Amino acid sequence: MPEIRPIGVFDSGYGGLTILKEIIQQLPGYDYLYMGDNARAPYGPRSFDTVYQYTLEAVHWFFSQGCELVVLACNTASAKALRTIQQRDLPHINPNKRVLGVIRPTTEVIGSYTKTGSVGILGTVGTVASESYPIEIAKFFPSVKVSQEACPMWVPLIENDEYDKAGADYFVKQHLQQILAKDPAIDTLLLGCTHYPLLLEKIKLFLPPGIQVVAQGEIVAKSLAHYLQRHPGLASHCTQNGKRIFYTTDATADFDAHATRFFGERIQSHHLEWSKK
Ligand code: DGL
Repeated sequence: MPEIRPIGVFDSGYGGLTILKEIIQQLPGYDYLYMGDNARAPYGPRSFDTVYQYTLEAVHWFFSQGCELVVLACNTASAKALRTIQQRDLPHINPNKRVLGVIRPTTEVIGSYTKTGSVGILGTVGTVASESYPIEIAKFFPSVKVSQEACPMWVPLIENDEYDKAGADYFVKQHLQQILAKDPAIDTLLLGCTHYPLLLEKIKLFLPPGIQVVAQGEIVAKSLAHYLQRHPGLASHCTQNGKRIFYTTDATADFDAHATRFFGERIQSHHLEWSKK
């Protein structure tokens, strides 16, 4: 029996740290175990099956570390793997454990941000192709018009530290222009990839006035807080010592150097070797 049962937070790499930061802000007492699968990132361009296999492997690892609850802090994994894991895998692995994503909590509220009734979703190729956002938003806000734009260059720009340089301007402008051309009435743009908050300042710079940009961190954190309130049994199984543990499947020095920018604090990570797990 492991001594702590942290809440697991998973991403393909660094992006999930933008979500974890907000979760810790709202729920500081819990123990958290973060894992970024940097060695196999990016997930955005990968097939449904690959993202599902990688994510399931991650979920098994979190459970082996004592997690009762795992948050997929990655839109791509939430779009391509969550449903299958929840419906097909969890009942066999352990019906008492829970895996949550970031798309559902976001789609439950995003329609209330728009006055024009037009929302734009910026995401990875995988998230956009899954159609998860338009499908889920239609359930909660049937009259809201949803347009999507895949921004495949944005994650590489962020991961290669080019996101705040002049070279990034071209790709940021390009995708903003393209999504606004799809629906000029858009007044709410959702950053549907957990990496994108690092581009927030640049995105705001190139947008016409009157368009609000929404990052998911706070929304997901609030939703998790409500979830734990509604599931006191599960919540009581998650230990609360304020511990934060970080793992990466790639080099720890690299992870630690990048992670500070996403998390806002220095991090010392451990290495996870898939083949030796
Ligand atoms: N951060 C991930 C997301 O929210 C995408 C990064 C990647 O492509 O691996 O979708």
